[in-house]
Amino acid sequence: MLAINDYKFWLLMYRIFPKNIIDTVFTIITAIQLYLLGARYVLKEIHRKLSSKVRKLSANEPDIPDDLTDYVAVVTGGSRGIGLSAAKDLYRRGCIVIVTSSASSQMERDKMAEEAKESVKATNNSGNILVWPIDFREMSSVFDFVARFNKEYGSLDILINNAGVMFVDKNFTSDGFEYHYQINYLSHVLLTWLLLPALNKADKKGPARVVNVSSSTHYPRCAFLDDLQSQITPYSAFHAYAQSKLCQIMFTYYMANWLRSDVGQSYRVLINCLHPGVAMTGLYQYVWWVRLFPWLASFLFRTADEGAETVIYCALSTEIESSGYYYEDCSSLRSSKFSMNKIYQNRLADLTRKQLAKLIEKYNQTYPEYKVPQILAY
Ligand SMILES: NC(=O)c1ccc[n+]([C@@H]2O[C@H](COP(=O)([O-])OP(=O)(O)OC[C@H]3O[C@@H](n4cnc5c(N)ncnc54)[C@H](OP(=O)(O)O)[C@@H]3O)[C@@H](O)[C@H]2O)c1
Ligand SMILES: *[C@@H]1O[C@H](CO)[C@@H](O)[C@H](O)[C@H]1NC(C)=O
Ligand SMILES: *[C@@H]1O[C@H](CO)[C@@H](O)[C@H](O)[C@H]1NC(C)=O
Ligand SMILES: *[C@@H]1O[C@H](CO)[C@@H](O)[C@H](O)[C@H]1NC(C)=O
Ligand SMILES: *[C@@H]1O[C@H](CO)[C@@H](O)[C@H](O)[C@H]1NC(C)=O
Repeated sequence: MLAINDYKFWLLMYRIFPKNIIDTVFTIITAIQLYLLGARYVLKEIHRKLSSKVRKLSANEPDIPDDLTDYVAVVTGGSRGIGLSAAKDLYRRGCIVIVTSSASSQMERDKMAEEAKESVKATNNSGNILVWPIDFREMSSVFDFVARFNKEYGSLDILINNAGVMFVDKNFTSDGFEYHYQINYLSHVLLTWLLLPALNKADKKGPARVVNVSSSTHYPRCAFLDDLQSQITPYSAFHAYAQSKLCQIMFTYYMANWLRSDVGQSYRVLINCLHPGVAMTGLYQYVWWVRLFPWLASFLFRTADEGAETVIYCALSTEIESSGYYYEDCSSLRSSKFSMNKIYQNRLADLTRKQLAKLIEKYNQTYPEYKVPQILAY
C-alpha cells in the first residue's frame, strides 16, 4: 500500500517535522488525490453526455415498477439535491415518502413538502411527501425519528441513506465523532439498524431495499481504522469525506454478508450502494472552482435528477436480486480493493458496533425501548 495511505507514515512524519507543516502536506496530497479522481469522473460525465452506451433510466423502464401505491419510503437528506429528486420520483409513482431534513422549524419543513409535491405534476396520486426532522449530528434525533416512524407507520419498503456533507472543517459532534464520520456514516448505520425490524415487516412482492448513496471519491483513499476520528493523525477534509464514503461501502458489504448468515437469513432486505455521478448540487458549496465558475460546473456535471437515476434503479429495479454490490450508472462495478478486504470490513464493523453500543447505552434512559440490536450483537 502507498505510504501516504498508511496512518503510521503520518505519525512518523509528525515526529520528524512540525505539526502544522505535516497537516498542510496531508491536506495537499489528499486534495490532489481527490482532484485527479474528480477530473477522471468529470471526463466520465462528458462521455456519458455524448455516448449512447452509458445506461440511463428512461421514464418508463419495464423493470422499474410504476405503481408504488401503499409503499412507504424514507429518504434522508431529501430537502434538496439528489435526495429531493429521488423523493419526487418515488412520489410520482404513488409512494408515501418521508424525507428527512435538519431544518428545525416545522413551518419550513412543511413548506419544503408542499413545494416538492407541487413541482411533481401528479394527478390522482395516492402518495405523499412528508418532511420530518433528523439532524445527523445528533444521535438523539435518529432515535426520535425511528420512535415516531414505528408509531405512525411501522413497516418500511425503501430506505435511501443519502444525507451527507462534504469537505467541512474539522469539528466534532456532541456525541464525540468527527462530522463526516457521524453524518455520512455512523448515524446512518444507527438509523438502518433501528429500522431493520420495520424493513423486515415490508410485505410487498420483493424484499425491502436499502440504498446507500456513497461516492467514487472512496477509490484513492483508505480508512485509517486506528484513527477514524482524526485524533492522532493529521486532519484533511478530503480524507475525512472519502473515508466516510469508503466506510459506507465497507459496511454495506459487511451487512450483505451478515444477511447470508444463519441469523441474517431471517431478514428479507436487499442492501446495495452506489456512486450517483457528479451532479450539480449544494454539496459543492466548499469547492472553490465550482463557487467561482458555477456555469462551468453546470455544463460539465449532470443534474440532480440524473444523479437520482442510479438511486431509483437500486431502490426499485427488479433486475436487482442480491445484496452487497456497488453501482454506477445503473450497472454494478468493482469498488476499491481496500473496500473489498474482509479483514478491514470486520474491523470496521467491530469498531462501529462498539461505538453504537456506547451510544445506545448513553441514550438508554431517554429511549428505554432500544437495546443493542440483536442482529449485530456478538
Ligand atoms: N453531487 C455529487 O456529485 C455527488 C457525488 C458523489 C456522491 N454524492 C453523495 O450524494 C449524497 C447527496 O448529495 P447531494 O449532492 O444531493 O448534496 P446536497 O444537495 O448538499 O444535499 C445534501 C443533503 O444532506 C442533508 N444534510 C446535510 N447535513 C445534514 C445533517 N447534519 N443532518 C441531516 N441532514 C443533513 C441536507 O439536508 P438539510 O440541510 O435539510 O438537513 C441535504 O438534503 C451525499 O451523500 C453525497 O455524498 C454526491
Ligand atoms: C385513479 O385512481 C383510481 C383509484 O386508485 C384508479 O381506479 C384510477 O384508474 C386512477 N385513474 C388514473 C387516470 O390513473
Ligand atoms: C463546529 O460546529 C459548531 C456547531 O455546529 C459550530 O458552532 C462551530 O463553529 C464549528 N466549529 C468549527 C471550527 O467549524
Ligand atoms: C449502508 O448499508 C448498511 C446495510 O444495511 C447499513 O447498516 C448502513 O447503515 C448503511 N448506511 C451507511 C451510511 O453505511
Ligand atoms: C442503561 O445503561 C446502564 C449503564 O450501562 C445500565 O446499567 C442499564 O441497565 C441500562 N438500562 C436499560 C433500560 O437498558
